[in-house]
Amino acid sequence: MQKIKQLISEKLSRYAAEAFPGSTLTPADIVSMLEYPPDSGMGDLALPCFKLSRSLRRSPVQIAETLAAGLCTAAQERPGPVGSANAVNGYLNIRISDAYLVGSVLPEILQKGDKYGAPVGWEGKKIVLDYSSPNVAKPFHIGHLGTTVIGHSLKMLFEFAGCECVGINHLGDWGTQFGKLITAFRLWGNREEVEEKGIDELVALYVRFHAEAEKDASLEDRARAEFTKLEHGDKENLELWRWFVDISIKEYKKTYKQLGIEFDSYNGESFYTDKMPEQVEILRQKNLMKLDDGASIVDLSAYDMPPCLILKRDGSTLYPTRDIAAAVYRKRTYNFDKCIYVTSAGQCLHFQQWFKVMELMGYDWADELVHVPYGTVSINGSKLATRTGNVILLKDLFAQAIEKVKAIMAEKSPDLANRDEAAEAVGVGAVVFYYLSGSRMRDINFIMEDALSFDGNTGPYVQYTYARTCSVLEKAGEVGDVDMNITAPEEAELLKIMCRFRERAEAAINDYEPFYITRFILDVASAFNRFYHNCRIIDEADEVVRTTRIKLTQAVNIVLGRAFGLICLKKMSKI
Ligand code: ARG
Repeated sequence: MQKIKQLISEKLSRYAAEAFPGSTLTPADIVSMLEYPPDSGMGDLALPCFKLSRSLRRSPVQIAETLAAGLCTAAQERPGPVGSANAVNGYLNIRISDAYLVGSVLPEILQKGDKYGAPVGWEGKKIVLDYSSPNVAKPFHIGHLGTTVIGHSLKMLFEFAGCECVGINHLGDWGTQFGKLITAFRLWGNREEVEEKGIDELVALYVRFHAEAEKDASLEDRARAEFTKLEHGDKENLELWRWFVDISIKEYKKTYKQLGIEFDSYNGESFYTDKMPEQVEILRQKNLMKLDDGASIVDLSAYDMPPCLILKRDGSTLYPTRDIAAAVYRKRTYNFDKCIYVTSAGQCLHFQQWFKVMELMGYDWADELVHVPYGTVSINGSKLATRTGNVILLKDLFAQAIEKVKAIMAEKSPDLANRDEAAEAVGVGAVVFYYLSGSRMRDINFIMEDALSFDGNTGPYVQYTYARTCSVLEKAGEVGDVDMNITAPEEAELLKIMCRFRERAEAAINDYEPFYITRFILDVASAFNRFYHNCRIIDEADEVVRTTRIKLTQAVNIVLGRAFGLICLKKMSKI
């Protein structure tokens, strides 16, 4: 749509200069003023002329009428994007021409294929994304769904825009929880069981630790001592720790595989152990640290924030210290243009604090650090508590969705050859799609039945639509080149929606909102289904009409497929 807006704006800027001498209205000014009318019956684009009234010294009604007259003549002269234009109450309403849609937009989609819709202006930028980042030995629960899918979707969006991306899983692989886990393992654990049950057993040990520590407070001291030993390089503890981390990563990877996610780095918090002293030294030299009850802090009261904790009383480092060291390491290693952190909104203050500390330390690239927060998730109304073990694990949520989809499919498509694969794609996709259906800051209450419905605004619905395009194309076989023609409003509608892909993708990047893509997918899918139900495709007798419709289906297949890839949805040609 940007191209159409640009072409129209160039024309309008010229007419304005001719009709209103002294007009300094540039095409870019006009592009930024064009709106989508609330009711598509009014037009496809509208220019509210009251915004121009002052600079052009005419009434909005006069301006709209003059510009409309100019556009109407242009529409007759040369095939351009303008189909018709009219002035209504100071608005210039513009309709895009069918000839342009079928003659320019459709061929462009077919020709650009997977590149159609790519955001512009980001090519070659280096983007680091820190996401998912579960805490080893604590459950990988549905609270992590947000960071995992928002983070990965952003990565896919930036890659689509031509950026070079580095996805980092900043594992929570260091901290007092390892003291607890080591203690619990020594007391109640057994190697075979951990090998066999993996994370589940680690989590069970962790949960048991908390239950027993309620009764016996000395366990906490013991855990602290084990962690200190670990920090000082105790060989046995280090081995146990490495083993716990490896077991965890192995399992996380199963979940990531279901989502089609791969990380470029699993450098977790422990990786920065030897990189922190340098930063602590800088803080000291710059006189930024002060002692507070034995602990070292950076006072942020001048910025209306509580202090940022750098070192505990015993000299051990903290979460912000590790983040500071990690940011510097990443800047040096990747020389990023942006480093994005996706975490729950509960960590907003943490990020504001240490971003400020970076600025105070004199890192002039501190403004390239971006925190992308998101709201809470509950399931059927209930919230989560890690310590009591009252959590829903991400893998269990996926497994449940997959099982349910399998049951639905057994009824719906009993002969499906690749049912397991399809059920996994649809089940996992349903959870992801449901999660990404609204703005990231919105709190979500997950209701499985809603997510899995095949006829709501859901993952299964859009995946089914995609499969439908595949089956039309398979039946259609090769189609020749003929001049195409639009004969039904559903066809024009579909193209008008698809040509907003780039705009949506750019907005998604700028606002860090993958759900713009989810909405776009729904718009395309519903428009395609209207077209599919109202228009004959393969059995249409007229060759031009049939070819146009098949090519249109091909365009939908390209655009939907591309958009799926941006939000961790797998494409299935049969479900
Ligand atoms: N491990 C943390 C958690 O689960 C998230 C880490 C986010 N990344 C960061 N660089 N702080 O809450």
